Amino acid sequence: MPSEPRRISLLQGDITKIQVDAIVNAANSSLLGGGGVDGAIHRAAGPELVHACRLLGGCKTGQAKLTPGFRLPAPWIIHTVGPVYRDGMQGEAQQLAACYRACLSIAAERNFQSLAFPAISCGIYGYPILEACSIAIREISQFLATNASPATVVLVAFDSQVHQAFSQILQDLD
Ligand code: APR
Repeated sequence: MPSEPRRISLLQGDITKIQVDAIVNAANSSLLGGGGVDGAIHRAAGPELVHACRLLGGCKTGQAKLTPGFRLPAPWIIHTVGPVYRDGMQGEAQQLAACYRACLSIAAERNFQSLAFPAISCGIYGYPILEACSIAIREISQFLATNASPATVVLVAFDSQVHQAFSQILQDLD
């Protein structure tokens, strides 16, 4: 089975502006907002988001939870908590892979047709970018190879370093 790279696209930009069925938020375990993409999503979604998140009782690393998108163009947000990168020997790779699978599983269960990911853990949580992006594309490709939905996945790179990494890995897949 091919690795389905054609169902994965890449763009450089702000995930809060993307018109897809769901965007993924790189949150922290409280789900009550933060900096980075989490802060941007909460600002764009508006104050109802934190109230919806409060009802979820937090989220464990490697897991994912769903809320409405409120004022976002995307009707849904899948919040996931990536690993804080320490030394690569604390199971970080497995936890990061689990984030992607958990988000994809929710999208498939809800029959979302399009899903956008930021580069989970590649900012404040300090994951080495090339390794993290490889894990992302591997997990997404494997999931898409055996699942019809989501039909398409958009990788949204905010900074050029992440864009470069995703782009290189996708080229190597083709
Ligand atoms: N759109 C898309 N990607 C973005 C955006 C945005 N608007 N803003 C930042 N990013 C990118 C960053 O450049 C980075 O590549 O998202 C990636 C993840 O970085 P962070 O947002 O810092 O997330 P992470 O590294 O997973 O750390 C999570 O940061 O914001 C807090 O509450 C969050 O404590 C949690 C921690």
